[in-house]
Amino acid sequence: MKALVVEEFGDSSKLKYSETTKPDPAEGEVLVKNQICGLNYLDIIITKGLQLSLESLGSTFPVTMGVEAAGIVEKIGDKVDGVAVGDRVGYVVIGSGAHADYSKVPASSLIKIPPEISFEQAATAIVQGMTAHYLVHSTGRVKPGDKVLVHTAAGGTGSLVCQMAKNAGAFVIGTTSTEAKAAKVRESGADEVILYSQKDFVEEVNRITDGKGVNVIYDGVGKTTLHRGFNCLAVQGIMVSYGLISGPAEPVEISTLAKGSFSLCRPHLTHYIATDEDLKWRSSEVFDWIKEGKVKIGDFTVFPLSDGRKAYELMESGKSTGKILMRP
Ligand SMILES: NC(=O)c1ccc[n+]([C@@H]2O[C@H](COP(=O)([O-])OP(=O)(O)OC[C@H]3O[C@@H](n4cnc5c(N)ncnc54)[C@H](OP(=O)(O)O)[C@@H]3O)[C@@H](O)[C@H]2O)c1
Repeated sequence: MKALVVEEFGDSSKLKYSETTKPDPAEGEVLVKNQICGLNYLDIIITKGLQLSLESLGSTFPVTMGVEAAGIVEKIGDKVDGVAVGDRVGYVVIGSGAHADYSKVPASSLIKIPPEISFEQAATAIVQGMTAHYLVHSTGRVKPGDKVLVHTAAGGTGSLVCQMAKNAGAFVIGTTSTEAKAAKVRESGADEVILYSQKDFVEEVNRITDGKGVNVIYDGVGKTTLHRGFNCLAVQGIMVSYGLISGPAEPVEISTLAKGSFSLCRPHLTHYIATDEDLKWRSSEVFDWIKEGKVKIGDFTVFPLSDGRKAYELMESGKSTGKILMRP
């Protein structure tokens, strides 16, 4: 079978579309024939060898890339219940090597895809959809009347955070880099869009909120934005640092939080879908919202898996909007 592999960590130029061995499911595992593979900023981080060690990927070089895909169950290992050959499933599993024709996945991590949901929608709903779900409903606990700031609001996760925060009754301010992306942010329901390339986002948020600041900041950017954000956070506001696209932020002094009784959290999806109950709850709510039209997932850029390097390069360039997918 074919897969996107790296033989050493680095930028996207290290990716190779290579022949590898088709995996065989062991006890408790299933073999999934991937129909569509999801690309996430995490894949860029993993390719660079940041955040996750080779050991935590459960691997030695060459490493097959990818944590997310949607496909069809092709083979079932021993001691697996409730899954049948032919089932439409999706998954997010670090170390699964999802950017490949086939992946073996623990049966306990499988998410059944309802018939109304396409493979493309599923491979977006799983990482970015469930991330937006926990960020809005568990970490930020957004309620009607809250004001929230969403960085990277035109991106895959950011656009879904905007939609879900809006649905929860919030006033949403999104930041992005270009006019073309700003139009996408408005489509996601943002009430205000800040072009951070032209205006200082702190000044703009304080202007829009009459100096009161926002109740929650969703910051997936890190180094260039996190510390500045505390200057436009409302009293008792929550700073949600969930990514580090621009690099890791400098440590935050406790005294910074004391300025407004702020909270700071650094959440990760894996901890919010760690139980079977949470995985089912978050995935089924996201799928339901897509079916009901409450959340729109349709802004896809699809590459053949054989051109996977181009998909990674697009994500790395920061020029994408919505979800980047690869078709095996
Ligand atoms: N903690 C978690 O559970 C979790 C889960 C999923 C994702 N994440 C994080 O969420 C963030 C967004 O991930 P995503 O997969 O949805 O990606 P994405 O937002 O679709 O793509 C990245 C976007 O980041 C912006 N950006 C800002 N500074 C950048 C830079 N220096 N280089 C490249 N891009 C830059 C660009 O948008 P603009 O042009 O609008 O600036 C770009 O389109 C990442 O930090 C990721 O690690 C965290």
